Amino acid sequence: VATSELAGKTCVVTGATSGIGLVAARELAGRGARILLVGRAPEKTEAAARSMREATGNPSIEPLLCDLSRPAQVAELAREIAGRTDRIDVLLNNAGMLPAKLEITPDGLERTFATNHLAYFVLTTGLLEVLKRTAGSRVVLVASDAHRIARAFDFDNLKGEKRFKALQVYAQSKLANLLFLSELARRLAGTGVTANALHPGVVRTNIFAIQSPLGLVSRFITRLGGLTPEKGAETSVYLATSPEVEGRSGGYYVRKKLVVPSAAARDHDAAARLWETSEKLAAEAGA
Ligand SMILES: NC(=O)c1ccc[n+]([C@@H]2O[C@H](COP(=O)([O-])OP(=O)(O)OC[C@H]3O[C@@H](n4cnc5c(N)ncnc54)[C@H](OP(=O)(O)O)[C@@H]3O)[C@@H](O)[C@H]2O)c1
Repeated sequence: VATSELAGKTCVVTGATSGIGLVAARELAGRGARILLVGRAPEKTEAAARSMREATGNPSIEPLLCDLSRPAQVAELAREIAGRTDRIDVLLNNAGMLPAKLEITPDGLERTFATNHLAYFVLTTGLLEVLKRTAGSRVVLVASDAHRIARAFDFDNLKGEKRFKALQVYAQSKLANLLFLSELARRLAGTGVTANALHPGVVRTNIFAIQSPLGLVSRFITRLGGLTPEKGAETSVYLATSPEVEGRSGGYYVRKKLVVPSAAARDHDAAARLWETSEKLAAEAGA
């Protein structure tokens, strides 16, 4: 049901062409927000925007293109967004991938790390000024409970140096989301901008459509017990809009409840080091 609860507000959603991000963006659009909808494939992104306008009656859905695995493109996306809008009420960093094999991007980075973490970092830091200008703005990071598989953040495998293990690489990227959250929330204290992260649950989406043993096993598991993308998007929308979390920052949420992430995710030295490493790697990639 369309409402005007978010009329006058602007939300940026990445990975809004599929799965959890598509549903979350549509929900925010249905409540009247202007949506800057980030995708990578032109036709798919255009189609997502069109179907969202039709489903919600909200005309203010603007498609934007970016390959989020390329930091220079993400920095350009941030500039494009900052040029289009003088306010961002919600930045929903959602786009992510599960790797099928080791892939090194043209920037020399391991693709999962570049997509799942560096894109969140470059887009968020690139939009901080606009976020700070918008009263009560919220940054939401879609992380995962898979971060618990990683025992400590490995700073020596960001360019795919070590023997490739798909689940470990994914877990490391999701641990990076929570380390980024920790340092981001610390730096944002007192600015009025909040940042929170979430695990959406195990959700039946395209993320598992990869051709690998991990893809096969995950598809089997999610078919048996996975959530629908509608259910999976609930905590994202909650953190983006609910008055219950107004002013709260630095939290990790599962099923709309605050939970404690792994010890590795609470390592403040690793969080500070990841921030510096991310700045350096993004700069090396031309961002
Ligand atoms: N599904 C789960 O069980 C689960 C569990 C925990 C956490 N998560 C997290 O939830 C988030 C959303 O995943 P999902 O399950 O909804 O998966 P999904 O259906 O595969 O959606 C992923 C989205 O990210 C986009 N994307 C991927 N790589 C990109 C790139 N290089 N540049 C631009 N866009 C890119 C995809 O674009 P295309 O449409 O063009 O492919 C798609 O819109 C991810 O961060 C994931 O880690 C999911």
